[in-house]
Amino acid sequence: MNGGKIRVLIVDDIAETRENLRKLLSFAPDVEVVGTAATGEEGMQLARELNPHVILMDINLPGIDGITATEQIAREVPTAQIIILSVQGETGYMRRAMAAGARDFLVKPPSGDELMATIRRVYEIGRAQAARMAPIPTVTTGGPAAAAPVRRGQLVVVFSPKGGVGCTTVAVNLAVALQTRLGVSQKVAIVDGSFQFGDVGVMLNLQPSRSIADLAVRVEELDTDLLTSVLTPHSSGVKALLAPPHPEAADAVIGADGGMAESSRRIGVILEGLLREFDLVVVDTWSILNELTLTFLDQADLILLVITPLIPDIKDARHFLELADRLGYPREKIGLVINYADRKTGLRLDQIERALIPSMAHIPYDERAGIVGANRGLPIAVEEASRPIGQAFVHLSANVLERLNQLKRSEEEEVSVEASRRLLGRALGI
Ligand SMILES: Nc1ncnc2c1ncn2[C@@H]1O[C@H](COP(=O)(O)OP(=O)(O)OP(=O)(O)O)[C@@H](O)[C@H]1O
Ligand SMILES: [Mg+2]
Repeated sequence: MNGGKIRVLIVDDIAETRENLRKLLSFAPDVEVVGTAATGEEGMQLARELNPHVILMDINLPGIDGITATEQIAREVPTAQIIILSVQGETGYMRRAMAAGARDFLVKPPSGDELMATIRRVYEIGRAQAARMAPIPTVTTGGPAAAAPVRRGQLVVVFSPKGGVGCTTVAVNLAVALQTRLGVSQKVAIVDGSFQFGDVGVMLNLQPSRSIADLAVRVEELDTDLLTSVLTPHSSGVKALLAPPHPEAADAVIGADGGMAESSRRIGVILEGLLREFDLVVVDTWSILNELTLTFLDQADLILLVITPLIPDIKDARHFLELADRLGYPREKIGLVINYADRKTGLRLDQIERALIPSMAHIPYDERAGIVGANRGLPIAVEEASRPIGQAFVHLSANVLERLNQLKRSEEEEVSVEASRRLLGRALGI
């Protein structure tokens, strides 16, 4: 947390509400209320002057309303993460608030836990964003192209809102298919983000000597040597950061002193370390959407949403897409993978895609999917490349690389526009 606290600005026209929020926040050692405002205008002015990390914004304000103020602050102070507060019944405004640039919303009165969890989460999102944007170096000569990206690699996070649908199968096979496609000149890593019951090691038939738990307690010393020493190499060339061998050992990762916020920070540091060393990092997550999973999702360049062609999966995926909208994830950041795509469920795949988003691969059922890896440590994408399931993973890896390249190109364009804007600003003295 940069040694400092999360700086919060409260904007609400009712004095009692401002005071209640302030009291709730006084119990959080990592939060400091830096200012309070009673109108939208005052909120905008204080946001500019105080540069808070997080703003709690009431929706109903006299004069400029909360949504308009949010819109303006999102433009002028983009580092501030805005949480909208509203009473029950106003939730129809939420979509507008999110579209205006709010990060999240809470129904009044929020509980202390809810309030703190939301503040810490949006703060982490802001930090991750800042980390990506920060090192736009001073442009001396050579123009905007001199801007260097912070990290070398790109992050693909495989997630499913429902357990047992093939998330780990997709993550493992994708990582190996990517390494096979890219060859030795590019480095691919896989991270088992399912800390308590991770299966990546089993599927790759690896005997872990070290795991993410060994890293989590030493993030302050993280360097290339330490990172290399905890990764387990697989015969495909992929390096695996495995889950701890026993569920209790996962406490080193998820039960760190300092709570979830500290655990999320550590995971963020580990990811940044991996992304400095590797061209591609694939993370297998568990299906619980907690702060740790959100840390992976926030940092992801591409999220692969794994479902099977069944109604409950489709419903869960829809909810996830709505959440992704609220979190401000662009739609290009999410790709759908339909596992067991040939299963006869009465639902057509094109209809599923229309209800959700277009898919990047249809993975068929293959009875050997589980057996091959367990016996020989080679996932089906490689071992059975000629079978339909192997081809599906080859296709998925091609689509993933294409999407990542598109995303990289548009990010580079954004960075170069920003760098040229700064250069122009300096040249004109503004
Ligand atoms: N396309 C497929 N064909 C055949 N078997 C499959 C396929 N996809 C997954 N499986 C099998 O289904 C089981 C569950 O898959 P997997 O572990 O990948 O799911 P998961 O979503 O990661 O589950 P969890 O929630 O436990 O982490 C495994 O035994 C796996 O081998
Ligand atoms: Mg799994």
